Amino acid sequence: MTAHTIDTLQAELADKNPRTILKSALEHYDNIYISFSGAEDVVLIDMATKLRSDVKVFSLDTGRLHPETYRYIETVRKHYNIQIELLSPDRDLLDNFVANKGLFSFYEDGHQECCGIRKVEPLKRKLAQLDAWITGQRKDQSLDTRQDIPEVQVDSAFSTTEKTLVKFNPLINWSSSQVWDYIEAHQVPYNPLHQQGFISIGCEPCTRAVLPNQHERVGRWWWEAGGKKECGLHAGNIKK
Ligand code: ADX
Ligand code: SF4
Repeated sequence: MTAHTIDTLQAELADKNPRTILKSALEHYDNIYISFSGAEDVVLIDMATKLRSDVKVFSLDTGRLHPETYRYIETVRKHYNIQIELLSPDRDLLDNFVANKGLFSFYEDGHQECCGIRKVEPLKRKLAQLDAWITGQRKDQSLDTRQDIPEVQVDSAFSTTEKTLVKFNPLINWSSSQVWDYIEAHQVPYNPLHQQGFISIGCEPCTRAVLPNQHERVGRWWWEAGGKKECGLHAGNIKK
């Protein structure tokens, strides 16, 4: 699809509900994957499996997810009878990084290098094979970086000169409470960490529970200052 037709599609999908956006994504593209983090974005899998039988899903297996998240990914795989591709980091890059900087360098010099190796590089490799991907980003997850995200966009971070990659964000207009209403109403299995005060869930060393009324993003990379906390998966969100 050209940028022009993406603009037309975006005009059609603006402010639509998640199911409508997801349905359109799955109708327009065959070579399309849901990017599943092992958290509330499970609602995308629930909706998608009701729309199409051959739903494709990947998760970035950073090697540092909580044990609960690994078990939960397995629960989701069995519950929906779907394949979930677990994408591992490049072995040489990772071996080298850990040999030089150990397992917790992010507490000293920031998360970008580790996220670059454990998340962004494997994601880039996968996205190079796809025409489009679907994410669970929502505006209410970050006041600093997720307010201007459209329902569908050309992925400015991962498109190449040879290929335009399209990114769908079906949950963009839903609040956390709408997601949780859906999870309850449809009896969707959820990550047990949500029962322990975790809201936004990433890797174990870089995620912590938040206090009542604290914003969910406070629980991610909490030792780093500022609100622009993106790990590179959604690098296009950060305005240069
Ligand atoms: S992050 O960039 O800060 O880590 P966040 O946890 O808010 O992202 O999740 C937003 C969306 O990014 C998820 O709904 C999912 O589509 C994608 N995502 C985040 N982490 C992963 C992961 N480990 N594997 C696959 N997709 C992920
Ligand atoms: Fe590494 Fe933390 Fe990023 Fe996970 S979230 S890839 S452990 S820096």
